[in-house]
Amino acid sequence: MNELKHIAIIMDGNGRWAKKQGFMKRIVGHEEGAKRVREITIHASNLGVKYLTLYAFSTENWKRPEGEVGFLMKLMDRYLKNELSLFLENDVRFEIIGEISKLPKDLRQTIEFTKEKTAHFKGLTQVLAVNYGSKNEIVRAVNKAVNAGIEVDEHRFDELLDTAGMDPVDILIRTGGEKRLSNYLLWQAAYSELYFTDTLWPDFHVGELDEIIKEFHKTQRRFGAVK
Ligand code: FPP
Repeated sequence: MNELKHIAIIMDGNGRWAKKQGFMKRIVGHEEGAKRVREITIHASNLGVKYLTLYAFSTENWKRPEGEVGFLMKLMDRYLKNELSLFLENDVRFEIIGEISKLPKDLRQTIEFTKEKTAHFKGLTQVLAVNYGSKNEIVRAVNKAVNAGIEVDEHRFDELLDTAGMDPVDILIRTGGEKRLSNYLLWQAAYSELYFTDTLWPDFHVGELDEIIKEFHKTQRRFGAVK
């Protein structure tokens, strides 16, 4: 069995799901997608996974229509407020990665409040990637090193990233049929196993995650060595 500490997911396909169901508005897909976030979080927590990192909003997503961006910000705020009890009941710590300073004040306050209330939990850490892009994260980390006047090696660089202290990504899943990484965890997923599924995120269910994990355990991970 491979060690499984960190699952990362690109939750793609919400808009197409809404259209397929006959809804005029793409946001209905995001609303449904948020329900899957809850189910997958509970499941990952029960499986004993240490980190579940979910791509909720990328540095590129600001290019979407203003109404959709505003809706996503409010949805995340509402989600965090609603899910606090889920975190408290399931020993789930909440963390965030991305350039948070650019987010609306209300959402920033909710993020800080949720982090504070769950900081002592030892079970799963649910990490939301919000206004996140790997290139943005890496450039911010480089600037931290430059400003501190330190020369980095791989280990020290790890500690300057938003994911400092987290284990590298073991499984990276993208739903929605596209086969690309979209600026997600490029450093942290250097040796992760990649899974691409045509399932649209609102249709993704715990059974499919179990199948992926089963596949993962069959894989021989060599990390560049010979076995
Ligand atoms: C991509 O689907 C999805 C997003 C940009 C947002 C992801 C957000 C959620 C799953 C819901 C909110 C999250 C939380 C944590 C409450 P898309 O809109 O690009 O779909 P499409 O490719 O079918 O257009």
